[in-house]
Amino acid sequence: MRSLSVGGSAAVLLGLAAAAPPPHKHRAPHYAASQWRADAVKKAFQVSWDGYYKYAFPHDSLRPVTNRYADDRNGWGASAVDAFSTALVMENWDVVDQILEYVPTIDFDNTTTEVSLFETTIRYLGGLVSAYDLITSPFTAHSCKTSDVDAILRQATRLADNLKVAFDTPSGVPDNNLYFNPPRKGGSTTNGIATIGTLVLEWTRLSDLTDDAEYAKLAQKAESYLLRPQPESGEPFPGLLGTNVRLSDGQFVDSNGGWGGGTDSFYEYLIKMYLYDPERFAEYKDRWIAAADSSIKYLVSHPTTRPDLTFLAMWQGKELRFFSEHLACFNGGNFILGGLTLNEPAYTDFGLALVDGCHATYTATATGIGPEIFAWQDARQPLNATNNPPAPADHAGFYNASGFWITNGNYVLRPEVIESYYYAYRATGDTKYQEWAWEAFERVNRTCRAGSGYSSIRDVNQPGGGGFHDFQESFWFAEVLKYSYLIHAEDAPWQVKADHTNQFVYNTEAHPIRVAGAWGTAKPWR
Ligand SMILES: *[C@@H]1O[C@H](CO)[C@@H](O)[C@H](O)[C@H]1NC(C)=O
Ligand SMILES: *[C@@H]1O[C@H](CO)[C@@H](O)[C@H](O)[C@H]1NC(C)=O
Ligand SMILES: *[C@@H]1O[C@H](CO)[C@@H](O)[C@H](O)[C@H]1NC(C)=O
Ligand SMILES: *[C@@H]1O[C@H](CO)[C@@H](O)[C@H](O)[C@H]1NC(C)=O
Repeated sequence: MRSLSVGGSAAVLLGLAAAAPPPHKHRAPHYAASQWRADAVKKAFQVSWDGYYKYAFPHDSLRPVTNRYADDRNGWGASAVDAFSTALVMENWDVVDQILEYVPTIDFDNTTTEVSLFETTIRYLGGLVSAYDLITSPFTAHSCKTSDVDAILRQATRLADNLKVAFDTPSGVPDNNLYFNPPRKGGSTTNGIATIGTLVLEWTRLSDLTDDAEYAKLAQKAESYLLRPQPESGEPFPGLLGTNVRLSDGQFVDSNGGWGGGTDSFYEYLIKMYLYDPERFAEYKDRWIAAADSSIKYLVSHPTTRPDLTFLAMWQGKELRFFSEHLACFNGGNFILGGLTLNEPAYTDFGLALVDGCHATYTATATGIGPEIFAWQDARQPLNATNNPPAPADHAGFYNASGFWITNGNYVLRPEVIESYYYAYRATGDTKYQEWAWEAFERVNRTCRAGSGYSSIRDVNQPGGGGFHDFQESFWFAEVLKYSYLIHAEDAPWQVKADHTNQFVYNTEAHPIRVAGAWGTAKPWR
């Protein structure tokens, strides 16, 4: 349902004509698949999987340089579960069958290390629910044993049943840090808005699949404190919040925020919940619109040396901070998805400008890969303002040429820039975004290929990447390889759509979740 007042406000903020855009402004663009590029990404997936399967499976992650493993996500096989939905959309049935066989054997009752509610939800719960949705969809041409398929949902439910204790706090805001055997809380007193607000898609989907309303209820109760933030200082700009919330009463304890790590996917999920089910999640949509409009009104920033680039500032109270992160580069894609979903081209266009900014962080470096954290000097604020320092002397040359300087040069196989290229391509059909995604993939393939897989690197601005961390993140499988593949692949029911025909919505780990009501019924079809 589009809202005229909303559309008008974004258009006015952008200085555009306030005339109401025609309904269904967004039509499906023409998409051009590239078989050889899609195949090259599939090959990289197979290399990464083979290294993992040989040296690390069923542990969490591969250390590709030394052919060792790490159990960084509780030892439940994080890379296998994160690779599941990617193997499915790539129709790599050999790998699908390996994972299918493994899932029933995971002991989700036992782990010796601390459990993150957030990380476990987005990777394991999201990965399982997504695989279940994809396998049970009428579009998946792969026959699986019913018992294997049932086991996916049973394991997701078992995991969520163990995680549920997190919400047993006075407010219902969960403790993010848990221990198992038996499941219990770690004793946190606060939690952040990303770790609170990035549960609701996965937990709601689990309720819809199992017909047990409790999971959705728990996640939505927690989210309610973020939809209606208290006290006022928790919302320094309309829709833009602080970071930390008390478990005792759900009150915000600070006013600092941004679209970066710790807060990012709270904003991301507001519009994605509306896409999941516009009837149940209209309030989430209103809050996304408030956040998006405030971002356009208050946070937009252009660097002094490259006023053509658009970044979003972070904030401390009402004062801005001019730095951003690779993580925040999902924002372009999220604005584009909002524009498509709400029929509001102003959001799409703004998202495309953010995509350009993040593209510039890639093309400026020695490796052609963007940094973990970067900063700039804002062109509108006084240059002597204490919150607007110039580039340090040793970064001034780079800043003059590039419009940002690097404050942390790591690249840990993050997806956000390629993810936003993917949304930009699906919204516009402009092959420029396929070229950008291909270039980024080639650069990552060249720089991060190490030993039996791919590794995160230390310095994107050194030729060769400045050394390996010897670590292949599980989200390399879930996200980087998936978005790199999908942007070149044939159209498919799980692809993001520009014309209001989405059958899936992607969780923050890039696991496609079937939208409520897709293909006829909110319930599994089998
Ligand atoms: C739990 O996992 C640890 C580490 O893998 C293992 O040593 C222990 O035997 C397991 N406990 C149970 C009850 O399965
Ligand atoms: C910045 O410069 C302006 C104009 O020269 C001056 O009025 C102001 O006091 C300066 N502000 C700071 C924080 O130095
Ligand atoms: C960067 O640009 C500024 C302003 O044009 C100039 O004063 C400075 O010398 C330049 N620095 C470098 C290292 O190029
Ligand atoms: C990726 O890297 C591998 C190993 O260096 C190479 O064989 C392959 O051609 C590369 N793929 C692309 C698309 O550049």
